[in-house]
Amino acid sequence: MDLTYRPRRLRRTAAIRDMVQETQLSVKDLIYPLFVMEGENTREEVTSMPGSYRYTLDLLVKEVQEAHQLGIRAIALFPAVPEEKKDSYGSESFNPDGLIPQALKAIKAAIPNITLITDVALDPYNSDGHDGIVRDGIILNDETVEVLVEQALCQAEAGTDIVAPSDMMDGRIGALREALDEKGFEDVAILAYSAKYASAYYGPFRDALGSAPKAGDKKTYQMDPANAREAMREMELDEMEGADMVMVKPALAYLDIIYRIKESTNLPVAAYNVSGEYAMIKAAEQMGWIDGKKVMLETLLSMKRAGADLILTYFAKEVALLLQ
Ligand code: PBG
Repeated sequence: MDLTYRPRRLRRTAAIRDMVQETQLSVKDLIYPLFVMEGENTREEVTSMPGSYRYTLDLLVKEVQEAHQLGIRAIALFPAVPEEKKDSYGSESFNPDGLIPQALKAIKAAIPNITLITDVALDPYNSDGHDGIVRDGIILNDETVEVLVEQALCQAEAGTDIVAPSDMMDGRIGALREALDEKGFEDVAILAYSAKYASAYYGPFRDALGSAPKAGDKKTYQMDPANAREAMREMELDEMEGADMVMVKPALAYLDIIYRIKESTNLPVAAYNVSGEYAMIKAAEQMGWIDGKKVMLETLLSMKRAGADLILTYFAKEVALLLQ
């Protein structure tokens, strides 16, 4: 480069701009998170997530079919569990006839090629609303890991392709890998929520599932938003314990973490464009304050540019429609 260099030459036409574009967003990068609830023929819009719904199983299958036809290859499932099925142990999380095993079987039967990802954590099942078992206000680590293992095995039995532990207990990746291998599920992959922060951006998701903690917060297991080096330690541990992919969550306020993790691992890196990030764009769009679709694409592209190979996003279907 010298002083006669004019960067605008490469921005002159759309064709040249396309030629030099460094990052692309593709429908192949997207994982579509979906909420499932009990009942029939019903979908309920999540108030704080316009355009996102809790689906009963029959309608969920239709939604997945539509998404798959648009080119989406993977979904992540989250259950809205009725209060009366919750207990302090989260036992519904490993009920072989529970919502998630039923959903896995129904979706696999209808759309065999879709990749199924299931969340491993106790919060939607736990009467305390925490990702782990609570005793005297303390979240128990090793006791929780034992239940998470039961949950993951139950999901594997029902046909999940990838388990995604989002609980942030210590040692869970190694425990899950060992148990899955021992039971013959060595082909079930682990997508580790490695750097998951104690974030206020999860608010709308907790509305969707009614899974907010009844007391306290998640700061003894989820990470401090102030820390980046700690994310590296979490990622290294998960990698050593056998994670197949690592995740950073939330995504938008943590692009630096995505970048750092991408620089220091050779595993695929996922980013979770979480519920609060989705809600902010939808709200500003509804107010007429921003062009929601353009902001959505720019936001997701920034995650790719930061290093994300995969993005979990409630926008998945909308993006797939736009990229057609
Ligand atoms: C819980 C879980 C959460 C999300 C995914 N799994 C919420 C939490 O940790 O409180 C949040 C996703 C989102 O906000 O979109 N294990």
